[in-house]
Amino acid sequence: MISKIKAQSTDSCIGQESRTFTFNCRQSALLHQLSMEIAAIGGPQAPGANFLTSAAAKELKPSFSQDQCALLEAYSDSLFSVLIFEGLKTINTSNPPDELPDLATLETRPDVLCLASRNQILLKLVDNDAFAYDLDNDGKLVRLVANFKGGGLTKIKAEPESRELSSHSGLALGPHTEAPYWCAVDAKDGHSPSPSSLILSALWNPTLEPTRVIPLPPVLERIGVINCLALTTENFQFTRSDSFVSGKGANGRDVSILAFDDKVGFSARFNSYRFSVNSNVSKFVKTAYSALCQRVEESTPAEYALTQESAMVINNTRALHCRDVIKDNRRVLVRIFGLSKFSTPIVISEDPLLVQG
Ligand SMILES: [Fe+2]
Repeated sequence: MISKIKAQSTDSCIGQESRTFTFNCRQSALLHQLSMEIAAIGGPQAPGANFLTSAAAKELKPSFSQDQCALLEAYSDSLFSVLIFEGLKTINTSNPPDELPDLATLETRPDVLCLASRNQILLKLVDNDAFAYDLDNDGKLVRLVANFKGGGLTKIKAEPESRELSSHSGLALGPHTEAPYWCAVDAKDGHSPSPSSLILSALWNPTLEPTRVIPLPPVLERIGVINCLALTTENFQFTRSDSFVSGKGANGRDVSILAFDDKVGFSARFNSYRFSVNSNVSKFVKTAYSALCQRVEESTPAEYALTQESAMVINNTRALHCRDVIKDNRRVLVRIFGLSKFSTPIVISEDPLLVQG
């Protein structure tokens, strides 16, 4: 049976790996007002949004209790895997249309801009800066996660023959961290690190389809120290992501899955449907890779069904996430990537923040 994140905020099998931050009415009203102000200038993609976001975080913080501040700080220090925000205001009570509008139409809706702006502020509360890669999602900060390209349980109007394996399709996505996969904290060989965090909220999720998370610390404990050490060797390869801009990004080789890091302890990069182990490696490395894949497959993901009243920040260097096939094509999530205070990206432009992938 799949465990519920909500019930696990303090004591359970994955214990402190997932925690809940609940906004009270006053805090939530202020967050809503500040989100609307950023949405009014065009949302996270607009020049000036980052400045307004910092100001919003500064304005909100004095209203938080000591416990709330401690929770934000612990996430900011990368000490656990998932932070759920609850008690958020409903943005739009109207029902979703039977068929989704196209991506460009959806992206400019005031409710989407408001949710995206709210996500940007929530990221800032945990010292993460919203950003985009030059080579991914057309260089845009906000990504709408929905079945635009087919592959869901129910066919869409323009169901294509071949489906891309990305968050723009309806296909099930196996356990993964977000690309790029070259490094996770410090830039390397001209590549910025993978996202430190991703934040998700839902515009519509009519049948409460869950987002699933697999924190890695229990998995790594189970596979043991020798296997973990073998996963730090640069003996793994990955295939190019389908969300990359056409002509940019490529398959990668000779990367590690785990790395020790002075600032966050360990960091991970892994994708169950894109990674593989190099063929000419020792039996130790092959055994370690099989052990990881097997333990990930056997793990019981924690699950959470997002709505407009909640948001989920996932630590992308410490946890995998996944989802089942999309059952209701009206489901739309709003996602943004965040870079933590520990991350050292290669910056292309500051406002909005664009980094080299
Ligand atoms: Fe993902």
